Amino acid sequence: MAAQNLSQTTYCVVTYGCQMNKHDSERVCGLLEECGSDRVETIEEADIVVFMTCCVREAADIRLRGQVETMKNYPLREGSPLTKRVIAIGGCIGQRDGQSLIDDMPHVSVVFGTHNLNALPHLVMAAVADQSPQTEILEAGDSFWSDLPTVREHSWSAWLPITMGCNNFCTYCIVPYVRGREKSRPIEEIEAEAKKLVADGVKEITLLGQNVNSYGRDLYGKPRFADVLECVAASGVKYLRYATSHPKDLTDEVIKKFATLPNVAPALHLPAQSGSNRILKAMNRRYTRERYIDLVHKVRNACPDIALSTDIIVGFPGETEEDFQATYDLVKEVGYNQVFTFIYSKREGTPAAKIDDPTPHEVIQDRFDRLVDLVQEKAYERNQSDQDKVVEVLVEGLNKRNASQITGRTPKNQTIHASVPPSMDPSSLIGRICTVQVDVAKTWYLAGHLVGVGE
Ligand code: 5AD
Ligand code: SF4
Repeated sequence: MAAQNLSQTTYCVVTYGCQMNKHDSERVCGLLEECGSDRVETIEEADIVVFMTCCVREAADIRLRGQVETMKNYPLREGSPLTKRVIAIGGCIGQRDGQSLIDDMPHVSVVFGTHNLNALPHLVMAAVADQSPQTEILEAGDSFWSDLPTVREHSWSAWLPITMGCNNFCTYCIVPYVRGREKSRPIEEIEAEAKKLVADGVKEITLLGQNVNSYGRDLYGKPRFADVLECVAASGVKYLRYATSHPKDLTDEVIKKFATLPNVAPALHLPAQSGSNRILKAMNRRYTRERYIDLVHKVRNACPDIALSTDIIVGFPGETEEDFQATYDLVKEVGYNQVFTFIYSKREGTPAAKIDDPTPHEVIQDRFDRLVDLVQEKAYERNQSDQDKVVEVLVEGLNKRNASQITGRTPKNQTIHASVPPSMDPSSLIGRICTVQVDVAKTWYLAGHLVGVGE
């Protein structure tokens, strides 16, 4: 086959990880399609398989290695123009492990990192042409991928990166080492991309950054995140979301924007990580439990019906029952709509990895289980406030368990299923904003019936 193109080939991208990784995957799809490769849904059908993998917790490492190992025995599909399947590993694991992935798994053909997504097509082509593995990792990058093609998962929803990297160095976290120092994207570029997305029919934009609240620090302090919210809201997008907010940098100015900009969705992800001041200090989070609770009050005063979500790590080295109890009480006091709970995972190279911890795994698992029970109880309670209300829904598809119903998300980011009148084809509503009367509020979803169809 010609070295310049990948026509007649098929590809699939497997993503494990955060929204930033998922967005990078959309760029990978765009790049491969530009070279003529066709997307397929399964690894078996794909001539080129790209793994975009996160290394924040060990589980993703194990999953990736297990999956790649089993692929040794997969035959290449009939009719493939290649003689051997190309397995490429990118994302945070590619960045961190580089060539050692190929040393450990010689059937891997390409390894690339977080700073050189754009190199993927030429690495794949070189691997095919030379029949030899290719690795390219850059130590740092200074470009956003705004000039790279994108294949969005949904035509009505888009991610828009505003910062790359992270300067916070929370002591448990590997991200600053694999995504590099924080860099803000010029606001003019953000504004132009938002306008283009809205002109393309996008109804929901999620601004992405490891810490969106510190936007502008590297631009001599101006513009700030509040200015970004303002300018993206002015694009007229229906729902504006953003992730992730670091509590230490969430300013009054930003909180005011939640209340005054009507298209900023009433949902805030505000990772607490722990409710113990001693552990927060050991994590280098740079806020206290009191300051966190004060922020929650400010946010709820400005926007009373806002849905709050958070991340909690259980079992940080040296966590005592008393520390855990402080976390438990924080979760109880705040009453989140959703909590992402994680058992601490030791990441080599981070400061916390050097702290010995004699706490048995069973003790940590027991704390984790108790917390999950509380999280469910609180999520159920929160959802009850929407019982019998009429809510807006951005329809994402059909209910996987009942194809006569639509499934979507509310402005508060709740999953909702709804029945539609028999005269209506539910598929015709995908990508539209409808109104639904909520009949049932469960822990993890709402259910109801369609009452209106909008834009
Ligand atoms: N162990 C467990 N959870 C972690 N997170 C980040 N690093 C670790 C780790 N080493 C969690 C944090 C973060 C989320 C994305 O992942 O809660 O907010
Ligand atoms: Fe990791 Fe902390 Fe940066 Fe979040 S803010 S990416 S937890 S170092």
